[in-house]
Amino acid sequence: MNKNKIYNIAIVGLGNIGSYLFKFLNKNRNYLSNKNNAGFRIIYVSAKNKKKKRNLKITKKQWIGNYIDVFKKKDVDIIIELIGGAEGPAKKLVFGALKNKKHVITANKALISKYGDQLSKIAEINKVNLEFEAAVCGGVPIIRSIKEGLIGNKINRICGIFNGTSNYVLSSMDLNKSSFKDTITKAKALGYAESNPSSDINGDDVASKVKILSSLCFNSFINENIHVEGIKDIKEEDIVNANKLGYKIKLMGFSEIFGNKIFQRVHPTLVKKTSYIAGVDGVLNAVIINGKPIGKNIIQGEGAGPSATTSALVSDISSVLRGNIKFPFAISNSKRKKYSSGKIIDLFFSSYIRLDVKDKYGVLSDVTKIFSNNKVSIKRVLQSPYKNKKRSSIVIITHRSKDNYIQKTLKTLAKKSYIIQKPKLIRIENG
Ligand SMILES: NC(=O)c1ccc[n+]([C@@H]2O[C@H](COP(=O)([O-])OP(=O)(O)OC[C@H]3O[C@@H](n4cnc5c(N)ncnc54)[C@H](OP(=O)(O)O)[C@@H]3O)[C@@H](O)[C@H]2O)c1
Repeated sequence: MNKNKIYNIAIVGLGNIGSYLFKFLNKNRNYLSNKNNAGFRIIYVSAKNKKKKRNLKITKKQWIGNYIDVFKKKDVDIIIELIGGAEGPAKKLVFGALKNKKHVITANKALISKYGDQLSKIAEINKVNLEFEAAVCGGVPIIRSIKEGLIGNKINRICGIFNGTSNYVLSSMDLNKSSFKDTITKAKALGYAESNPSSDINGDDVASKVKILSSLCFNSFINENIHVEGIKDIKEEDIVNANKLGYKIKLMGFSEIFGNKIFQRVHPTLVKKTSYIAGVDGVLNAVIINGKPIGKNIIQGEGAGPSATTSALVSDISSVLRGNIKFPFAISNSKRKKYSSGKIIDLFFSSYIRLDVKDKYGVLSDVTKIFSNNKVSIKRVLQSPYKNKKRSSIVIITHRSKDNYIQKTLKTLAKKSYIIQKPKLIRIENG
């Protein structure tokens, strides 16, 4: 640590996050320099469109027209990538910056979950930082917690709510008894969902975060195999049924290690109303880690938005200012392991299954026979006929069964003439 050292920072991307960070760093320069015992200045900035109105005080000298030039500049120490996307300019910038021995800070989960292994090798060889605290759960300091605060622990499971948009949608559907479609429209109007929220809704955003967290928890290379289901098929009636049964529905991500296999999954999950995770509503995120000797550890906070994300970016900047050159994935790449991946069909769950059926004689007994033929035992049944519609909804809660058997049961049921639409499965988390 050198208290006379001044680090030159370049910020590329001045959208939601980049413009907030630019203002925050300018306003808090002295405070942060004193805390870190090293100074910094924003020497360059770049974005796509120079003519865009930004309400930022950018000098002529600071603006770089072509982002590629940023990593060629000799006077740049730290490059902060806030463009987004796994390919294109963000990828070119981060690879180029690390190859040119610049410290890199990024909030880009898509890039890190896809190219994190390659990037961390370059960072390690060139002895520069690659920091990505802001890529996972915004203001929740989960990456630094795993790398530093929990360093002494053997972690065997990480799970939680990793996406604020989907959590807001599910919480609002529950609170306002509204449909998925109406809720997403409202979320966009309030700024809780982007105009194209597909990666939040289809589970891909959570999947990227689970992959990054898994490799940090288990000292492994990034494992591409992950089971992903989103929330777009969750109906109001699922929320109502969940309530009747004492549950709430959450989109959760999980990664656990059994033997030599990592099991990664993202799917809507029924959690007991009395559980901690059921109380994490709205745009909040929460991460639960199980390890030894810590036991169960929970961190909660705002998962996205400029202020929470800036908090994470500043912790990354401080890490560089303090001369904290760390391996990007906690340990040297030469020591990271390659685990094989387990499949969800080999795991055991209690499950919620909703069947929309023709309301006629013998259906329920045929359904229960199919469950028993597939070695799935039933714990509870709720049957609700729809008035005047000659249809009925059957909700079945199963005892813990192998997921493979549940999926075979659903396949058999789907072929039956009395089934009106594809059976809905939601797995139950009893932990
Ligand atoms: N928004 C959040 O709450 C949040 C939370 C955590 C992490 N993140 C991550 O933070 C990153 C930035 O997100 P954001 O919400 O700030 O995105 P954004 O508002 O869309 O901003 C993207 C910025 O990148 C610039 N850009 C695009 N193409 C470029 C190019 N070819 N060369 C130079 N600049 C280019 C844009 O320039 P113009 O301004 O000229 O169009 C814009 O300033 C993403 O990786 C995102 O996943 C966001």
